[in-house]
Amino acid sequence: MIISIGCDHIVTEIKNHLIDYLESKGHKVIDNGTYDKIRTHYPIYGKKTADKVASGEADLGITICGTGVGISTSANKVDGVRAALVGDVETARYAKENLNANIVAFGGRILGIGLIENIIDVFLGTEYKSTKENEKIIQKINSLNGHVGQVNDDDYFDEFLKKWDCGEYHD
Ligand code: RB5
Repeated sequence: MIISIGCDHIVTEIKNHLIDYLESKGHKVIDNGTYDKIRTHYPIYGKKTADKVASGEADLGITICGTGVGISTSANKVDGVRAALVGDVETARYAKENLNANIVAFGGRILGIGLIENIIDVFLGTEYKSTKENEKIIQKINSLNGHVGQVNDDDYFDEFLKKWDCGEYHD
């Protein structure tokens, strides 16, 4: 499978570990960053990771930040993405089987690495069940998005970053 992965600066080492883990299992990984521990902004990496999934460049995605909340919420803003923030294998199985979740998200400061690996195994290994009910609910969820034209727009955060540099934002 082709897996798109992204994180913020809090959990870069976990992302790097997961890349090795996925590659050792024969997957191809698209690493969207961030690549170091320099303070950055999780919406950027949530979007980059989600864009690859939404465009079909990747089959599935993985996003990680401290709690998983910020980056999964950001990824979920991208059209066609259903990112599930999970902390146990059963929730991951449900998300894939019923909602055809295409991104699994983690709080790297919340979960142990062994559990994250187990959840990834289950998420990648679970098949979506294409029932009438599941299709209908997914259609409804998808219809809530509406940011046409944002996918693969690499300049999307330019204005935000300029403001950040000018000290307009704080985390
Ligand atoms: C750091 O920016 C921290 O807020 C982030 O990693 C995450 O925990 C947010 O959900």
